[in-house]
Amino acid sequence: GDSYDEECDYLFKAVMIGDSAVGKSNLLSRFAKDEFRLDSKPTIGVEFAYRNIRIGDKMIKAQIWDTAGQERFRAITSSYYRGALGALLVYDMTRRATFENIKKWLKELREYGNSYIVIVLVGNKSDLSRNREIQEEEGKELAEMEGLYFMETSAMENLNVQDAFLQMFRKIL
Ligand code: GTP
Ligand code: MG
Repeated sequence: GDSYDEECDYLFKAVMIGDSAVGKSNLLSRFAKDEFRLDSKPTIGVEFAYRNIRIGDKMIKAQIWDTAGQERFRAITSSYYRGALGALLVYDMTRRATFENIKKWLKELREYGNSYIVIVLVGNKSDLSRNREIQEEEGKELAEMEGLYFMETSAMENLNVQDAFLQMFRKIL
């Protein structure tokens, strides 16, 4: 075919999860559109973004779902996870409560997600690292214990954002 889409070898679905205001939507808009907003509003329901990426000699169409961290704004859980091959599980390194809740998100992920889903644990807001409540080592340890990949990012300063997503898609492939 002559359209860009038809030249994709794979369509991969991935999901963003984690507490409200950890930066899920901004990580996604940084990855998909190179955009960041200081005044972004909480997500209501589900939003999507697409990006075509090349990994080796393969073209991948990434379809990434982003939902609300706030319970009252969340969409139905099982449909959100259905068919997802990857997940970015995000906490805010300046707020310990968001790290403590990772266990809760993992439980949901393992209940509704595929058993072979690739999970990257992401400690976001590294631009605020002088206010951090979670040391990098602590994030790494949790990731190791739970069998996850790990990365610290800043959506604001565009640090490691591409790497976090690309690492996930490489492992899926
Ligand atoms: P919900 O949709 O409610 O689940 O929140 P969310 O996880 O999507 O958070 P969102 O992306 O809306 O970001 C929340 C706030 O954190 C916004 O004010 C963002 O500007 C800010 N933020 C996101 N990423 C970063 C970052 O890397 N550094 C800093 N300093 N602020 C960030
Ligand atoms: Mg959001």
